[in-house]
Amino acid sequence: MEHLSLSLQTLAAQGLGETDPVTGALAPVITMSTNYEQQPDGSYPQGRVYTRADNPTSEHAERLLAALEGGQCALFGSGMAAITAVFQSLLPGDHVLVSRVLYWGVRKWLAEFGLTWGLDVEFADTADPGAVAAAIRPGRTRLLWLETPANPMWEITDLAAACALAHAAGVRVAVDNTVATPVLTRPFEHGADLVVHSASKYLNGHGDVLAGAVLSARPDPLWERIRSWRRNAGAMPGPFEAWLLQRGMRTLFLRVHRASETALAIATHFAGHPALSDVLYPGLPGHPGHAIAARQMDGGFGGMLSIRLAGGAGHALAVLGEVRVFKRATSLGGVESLIEHRRSSEGPSSPVPGDLLRISAGIESPADLIADLEAALEKGRPR
Ligand SMILES: Cc1ncc(COP(=O)(O)O)c(C=O)c1O
Repeated sequence: MEHLSLSLQTLAAQGLGETDPVTGALAPVITMSTNYEQQPDGSYPQGRVYTRADNPTSEHAERLLAALEGGQCALFGSGMAAITAVFQSLLPGDHVLVSRVLYWGVRKWLAEFGLTWGLDVEFADTADPGAVAAAIRPGRTRLLWLETPANPMWEITDLAAACALAHAAGVRVAVDNTVATPVLTRPFEHGADLVVHSASKYLNGHGDVLAGAVLSARPDPLWERIRSWRRNAGAMPGPFEAWLLQRGMRTLFLRVHRASETALAIATHFAGHPALSDVLYPGLPGHPGHAIAARQMDGGFGGMLSIRLAGGAGHALAVLGEVRVFKRATSLGGVESLIEHRRSSEGPSSPVPGDLLRISAGIESPADLIADLEAALEKGRPR
């Protein structure tokens, strides 16, 4: 299929239009084999030897994600396996600048293992280009790590501005694009060098796969190190996970657009609600990152938002206990709407305010979700 002339939505829906060359099947075959037959002359005609390096089912999902984001793609066994492959492909002594607000698992890994790996990790307010410029150490900083919209406050980083600052100092930029997905933001178009995903979220979209991905704008030595890390550390996903992931990506555009519409409807409905001190959603005109998000995100502001309860942490936990339609669960990006007290999930060292509930909008009826939250706010009201 000619990729360039078709929209990304069409490529996703049709799995790039690839059919199985042996059977003609429209759904790809799952190749479970761990190994491939060697010829008497020692060669491997298909170029595949062992599944820790090569698997056709993963390769199909990689081609599809690479078509959506651009660049080259490597799947990993989880988002964290993908993220840590990037950090572990750096060298001891490298200075890395990381978004101050970001998925807590990355902060936790950097604190526990990034330091013993020898990385010099510094957190910066990447929503402020001045803070990024001040924190870059020319000649020492190797990587700027961004997440936008960033968990769980949904702060927005201007990718083009951050990439321009970083590149002027010879710094590579990696963007965790899990929340925006390539449906809404394609970081390579804004100058990013690497894109990472927790594919366990929107890319799969059904809460039944753990997987991750790293994409590189170009096949340079850092990319080769990341791929070598995956092979030699054994960070490949299983073939069934890769297969489920390609199936999930076929409906990616529908799900992300729907989740974005629902999140906007929820945010708009509850903005100014007397039980809430704030609604954090980049689609609201009052959000500090709204203007940048409107420029950088194409077709919606994403399915994630947070609410802050006027009565504090006790109020948040009381409301959480009263929802009936929203599922109380961690993670995000699936078809069911989820609600979570982030601070409890992250533990005592969490910087997240105790009055905050994080919401992942799914694809249910928005009216059911709004009614459920209204009822929970009423029942959980401090008396
Ligand atoms: C933005 C973001 N990045 C990375 C991860 C880690 O991904 P995984 O759970 O697939 O390891 C998560 C998981 O919640 C996430 O929300």
